[in-house]
Amino acid sequence: MPNEKIIDGRAIAKKIEEEVRSGTEEFTIQTGITPGLATVLVGDDEASRMYIRLKHKACDRAGIHAEDHSLPFDSTQDELTTLINTLNDKDDIHSILVQLPLPPHLNEQAAMETIAPNKDADGFHPVNMGRLLIGKEELVPCTPKGIIRAMEEYDVEIEGKNAVIIGHSNVVGKPLAAMLLNRNATVSVCHIFTDDLKRYTTQADILISATGVAHLIKADMIKEGAVIFDVGISKIDGKVVGDVDFEAVLPKVSLITPVPGGVGPMTISILLQHTLESARRINK
Ligand code: GUN
Repeated sequence: MPNEKIIDGRAIAKKIEEEVRSGTEEFTIQTGITPGLATVLVGDDEASRMYIRLKHKACDRAGIHAEDHSLPFDSTQDELTTLINTLNDKDDIHSILVQLPLPPHLNEQAAMETIAPNKDADGFHPVNMGRLLIGKEELVPCTPKGIIRAMEEYDVEIEGKNAVIIGHSNVVGKPLAAMLLNRNATVSVCHIFTDDLKRYTTQADILISATGVAHLIKADMIKEGAVIFDVGISKIDGKVVGDVDFEAVLPKVSLITPVPGGVGPMTISILLQHTLESARRINK
């Protein structure tokens, strides 16, 4: 029997994907338009290639048109800007994703700012980040949005709770802090310079860890009954593990995401949701 404390990220992802598939079908019947996602990959990083492949397969399953644009590793910023601008102008593309990391000679922030805000699949454009901060959540980063959706699916109360986030990245920590504040949690954001991490984590009703440090979070660092989201992915002896010492904390938590099969699968399905939402908004 499945452990009821373990959040089934794959099941939530499947549910979101099915919502997008039926929403896409209806949208296409009504408008004659197929929602379109363009992915941009610069260079041939193996992990990035795999992520792009997974995203394209998910689009196929949901009835979304997906096209891949690959540029060589030594492309210039101007070449990348030109490609993004071409995609901004394409009527059959409603969503654009530039896979990160970019090669070190390219400016990621400049690339994010080139994407038209209404086609911003990742929600990384400053306009969308700014809207999120003032409580207007439209295109917001996919991983935090997936985490909030999981909280809704599992009836996790947010208002008035102590939420502690470890990791202050633009991709996860900062946007998630804004989303939790928008839902009236009391939010603490910890990071690599935080003195006495345990002092914060032991107060957390909801704990989200996004550091990539294997088994950073031990059983004595968490509060009895906490809800835990583990965004970390690393390897110990060839085995994929998260930031949380899963087996050790399991008896103490009320809910926890596993790694793999927790937060990861939800992120791609949110990307599909964004593509459909953008297609709807653009064609209103
Ligand atoms: N690389 C790793 N995660 C992500 C993500 O969420 N979006 C993009 N564009 N690149 C990534």
